[in-house]
Amino acid sequence: MTGKIALIPGDGIGPEIVAEAKKVLDTVAKKYGHEFEYETLLMGGCSIDAYGEPLTEESLEKAKASDAVLLGAVGGNVGNSRWYQVAPNLRPEAGLLKIRKGLGLFANIRPAKLFSQLKDACPLKPEIIGDGFDIVMMRELTGGVYFGEHKTEEIDGIRKSTDIMAYDENEIKRIAVKAFEVARKRGKNVTSVDKANVLDTSRLWRAVVDEVAKDYPDVTVKHMLVDNCAMQLVMNPRQFDVILTENMFGDILSDEASMITGSIGMLSSASLGAGKLGLYEPSHGSAPDIAGKGIANPIATILSAAMLLRYSFDLDEEAKAVETAVEEVLKAGYRTIDIMSEGMTQVGTVSMGDLIAEKILG
Ligand code: NAD
Ligand code: IPM
Ligand code: MN
Repeated sequence: MTGKIALIPGDGIGPEIVAEAKKVLDTVAKKYGHEFEYETLLMGGCSIDAYGEPLTEESLEKAKASDAVLLGAVGGNVGNSRWYQVAPNLRPEAGLLKIRKGLGLFANIRPAKLFSQLKDACPLKPEIIGDGFDIVMMRELTGGVYFGEHKTEEIDGIRKSTDIMAYDENEIKRIAVKAFEVARKRGKNVTSVDKANVLDTSRLWRAVVDEVAKDYPDVTVKHMLVDNCAMQLVMNPRQFDVILTENMFGDILSDEASMITGSIGMLSSASLGAGKLGLYEPSHGSAPDIAGKGIANPIATILSAAMLLRYSFDLDEEAKAVETAVEEVLKAGYRTIDIMSEGMTQVGTVSMGDLIAEKILG
């Protein structure tokens, strides 16, 4: 098959990790006889430098015209780099929000699975880890407080800021349906996470999730308050199958879920909408503290490329081959610094990409 992939390396470690994911996609193309056509687009700080805005309309249109988008990460040191001396809608992260909204990507899937080889990198005790966990975080991505009204004003000399969190029932319903569909194909268990003891949006969320649940009698649903969920994730992660939650709660909980898999450098993600076009990116940021050092873990981005093959191109066998190659390289003892443990061989970003690509070729 042939496919058009928009590559958005972004800022910081973005270009380093996207290069490795592209290497893996090229290897898959070679082995299985596919042809991927790439177009590189600017987004984030690099786009601000080139065009004065984090994502131009032209780049957004090119992303829309592609079959899939592979993204690294955007942003710099928040607050103290030149990219943050401008209005919020012109900062690097605004480009990311614009592309998610512009492509209608309301469902963000972040699989937090503990690879058995990484038990030593997991900060939880062995008795909590047990035989491992396999969680899918289903985060609503185009609503909630991220997209409500934002303003900062000064009233009688007092500065005041407002961020509005809003959801309508259709926004909740479509992400809930996705979560139940995913759960049906795996552990048949949805934990819907909210703050229904305080927030109206959460009370509506809970009601709509219960309505959707009626169409999935084979899937059990449980509601959990978000503060409790943050605690349960480190106390008993094995209880979770699919976690369904709103935008900001999902942002926070997915970083927590990533760390119990060993490192934020392991957590991939797929952002999907109604059609086949998806955006694939690691869940972590641009890591300005390690950018340019050649030590970033490219696995989250490589696993995101596997999701791209699966969800946008229906190439399940190829996606599996990438995932298996990652497991085999971990089994062989190779580690980037963030997942390093005693007795393992430490490698940099490029070597990790090479090792995974070699395993795919077999
Ligand atoms: P971050 O995820 O970039 O980094 C947090 C910590 O994790 C750092 O110590 C970093 O070195 C480490 N880390 C992250 N990815 C790693 C990897 N692949 N390998 C090894 N270590 C890794 O979060 P932050 O520091 O809070 O944010 C930095 C910038 O990234 C900010 O501008 C933020 O807005 C942006 N950001 C972008 C995205 C995105 O583009 N999707 C996501 C999160 C944060
Ligand atoms: C993520 C990031 C983004 C988010 C930021 C950079 C806007 O943290 O993808 O998790 O909050 O969604
Ligand atoms: Mn985040």
